[in-house]
Amino acid sequence: MQTIHTVAALRAALKNQASIAFVPTMGNLHAGHIHLVEIARQHAECVVVSIFVNPLQFGPNEDLASYPRTLKADCEKLETAGTDIVFAPNTGEMYPETQTMTITPPPIASELCGASRPGHFAGVATIVMKLFNIVFFNGSARQVAVFGKKDFQQLFIIKELVKQFNLPIEIIAGETVREADGLAMSSRNGYLSAQERASATQLNSALQSIVDAIKSGNKSFPALETTAIQQLCEAGWQVDYIAVRSAKTLLIPKENERDLVVLAAAKIGTTRLIDNLTITI
Ligand code: PAJ
Repeated sequence: MQTIHTVAALRAALKNQASIAFVPTMGNLHAGHIHLVEIARQHAECVVVSIFVNPLQFGPNEDLASYPRTLKADCEKLETAGTDIVFAPNTGEMYPETQTMTITPPPIASELCGASRPGHFAGVATIVMKLFNIVFFNGSARQVAVFGKKDFQQLFIIKELVKQFNLPIEIIAGETVREADGLAMSSRNGYLSAQERASATQLNSALQSIVDAIKSGNKSFPALETTAIQQLCEAGWQVDYIAVRSAKTLLIPKENERDLVVLAAAKIGTTRLIDNLTITI
């Protein structure tokens, strides 16, 4: 496995690759990330994983400075998982000048997580476009990028990016990897105190109760959302949103919509967690 820090060196290493599978990350890797690497391994000869904490997608009061940076441990995990190349640029390498040209994501990027994180998805779409242009520069026959369903709205926006800009890249989605008690794995779980960690599973349980209610025929989505929000608030959470949406469009489901996703974002203490569950009725 090679660890590369510059765009020029990465392109030199990828020049003659016929098939590339790419997993973009911000590092502090856990089993969820490694699952995506394993999927990537099945799709191409060369697996590239990027590790870059992207300042453009963090708001002014968010955790950019404290976001965990654990490159050495990450590289060990990636080597074991069969990664060929780790791309770990610094901020100056990715943004040698102020990024005055950015991707404007679709209107849905202002809802759900976008409502409490203005500009977040513009920052994500811009860095992913840059990374795609860096990694997939040689037009190799097979170009695959793997993203997790854990960040369902992000995955949706990346698929739109690829579609609307005609990028010759196949997007593959990996399932959410969870802890034994149901908590979705996240680099931000490390911020939780022991007490918060014990309560953190309530987020997944809230989503699961909505899924169970929908499965048993309840279609009063706003009421289900309100009840779940109230329960989490009573348990001490600050809820950004809990929403039942179309899994295809992320909009409010139409009358006969069958593919649904229940999404949530909420803070326990100072840690903001997200999760979602899909359901077909
Ligand atoms: P990061 O949060 O590091 O996540 C990298 C990838 O891992 C994303 O596709 C995310 O959906 C996936 N992932 C995270 N937790 C997961 C879990 N428990 N199970 C499965 N997959 C999981 O998402 C980002 O970084 C950034 O926004 C990025 C796309 C790299 C752009 O900066």
